[in-house]
Amino acid sequence: MEKKEWLPPGFEYRAGELWLEEVSLESLARKFGTPCYVYSAGAIRAAYRRYQAGFAGASLDLSLCYAVKANSNLEILRLLGGAGAGADVVSAGELYRAISAGIPAGKIVFAGVGKTQAEIDYALERNIRAFNLESAGELALLDRRAQALDKTGVGVSLRFNPDVEVHTHAYITTGKKSNKFGLPAATIRQLSQEINRSPALKLRGLQMHIGSQLLQIEPVVAAFEKLLDLAAEVEALTGQALEYLDIGGGLGASYSGEIPPRPADLALALAAAMAKRVVTYPLLAEPGRYLVAEAGSLLTEVLYLKGGDEGETNFAIVDAGMNDLLRPALYQASHKIVPLKVPDSPDHRLYEVVGPVCETGDWLGHGISLAGLRGGEHLAILSAGAYGFAMASNYNSRPRPPEILVDGPDCRLIRRRETFEDLVAAEINL
Ligand SMILES: Cc1ncc(COP(=O)(O)O)c(C=O)c1O
Repeated sequence: MEKKEWLPPGFEYRAGELWLEEVSLESLARKFGTPCYVYSAGAIRAAYRRYQAGFAGASLDLSLCYAVKANSNLEILRLLGGAGAGADVVSAGELYRAISAGIPAGKIVFAGVGKTQAEIDYALERNIRAFNLESAGELALLDRRAQALDKTGVGVSLRFNPDVEVHTHAYITTGKKSNKFGLPAATIRQLSQEINRSPALKLRGLQMHIGSQLLQIEPVVAAFEKLLDLAAEVEALTGQALEYLDIGGGLGASYSGEIPPRPADLALALAAAMAKRVVTYPLLAEPGRYLVAEAGSLLTEVLYLKGGDEGETNFAIVDAGMNDLLRPALYQASHKIVPLKVPDSPDHRLYEVVGPVCETGDWLGHGISLAGLRGGEHLAILSAGAYGFAMASNYNSRPRPPEILVDGPDCRLIRRRETFEDLVAAEINL
């Protein structure tokens, strides 16, 4: 029986087996063991090209800075950097990764509400493109450190909180006044003049990021309209033209067949907002999820089935847990879960797919319909390429899983499975 349901790009059933590009996932799961993350290089490249082409199609000048937090594997960074992407980082650790992967510092922006002095110094010494600042205190520290290190022309972008309503999970809404992110317009007007007076700093842009997994572009456009108004005010106050406006990331991905907006639609709407005011700005964007979410999957083995008698819940206990994929537990996120081999049995049951971690919250899927399920079978938890491995932990002293990159017929280990020695390495020989 061939399945006709939605699958992310690059995934398809062939003769009853799930393939990713030119690789059978069943053979991959046997070769590398489970749980394991698998990513499609082709799907990541295609998403990157769609984003670029969407903005080029609207005649917009775009610098794409991949949000490293979504998936920070060095090989994924090399792949996107090689395609031309810069990086949006939120810690010195991410900056270290991006530079190690060959992304030029001049294409890297540094975001985050709580950069430490050590992180600021580390980034200053590497001459990154811009610091996206979110408080007066942070600006004062950056100014002091830039002067202490004899830096001039240090790029700064101020993060605007446009106070817009976004329909996404509360934990990934970032553009409301009540969220910790960004600054109100009045503060930005004031800080932009302070930056202007600094011998070390240069205000290059204004930035916004209103949330993640956005399935509508209207809130982004509403926020961008406010950003355009603010940009005009800031330019009038400082007498300096801004080099770019940074629209953040946020475009949604499909987790079970929903249709997120296309970058081309977003680009056309942003271009129209600028045309209305007869202005054009080069744009910087920081997509994460859009580029990598659908390209990745977490493969897992069914260890045990339990329940199912008269009114009992059916549990499928698998070898991946919340430490490997936190999104369901943290965001109540729902990922489509499919078998690697289509079973002959028509006997579908609804399962709670749960992991081995000692937490009731350790679930990976609620009410997942699977046919003829047996212990030992492999399942794919789809659209797990973003905020999947990146959020994995060693909770319950579970070694983190390996990551594998599929490219056409090739599959390559890009991070090995952790060992027990890795678990204790930072605690011994101190
Ligand atoms: C400042 C900033 N930029 C970009 C992103 C990437 O968001 P997404 O993965 O939804 O594109 C985030 C996500 O939290 C963010 O906080």
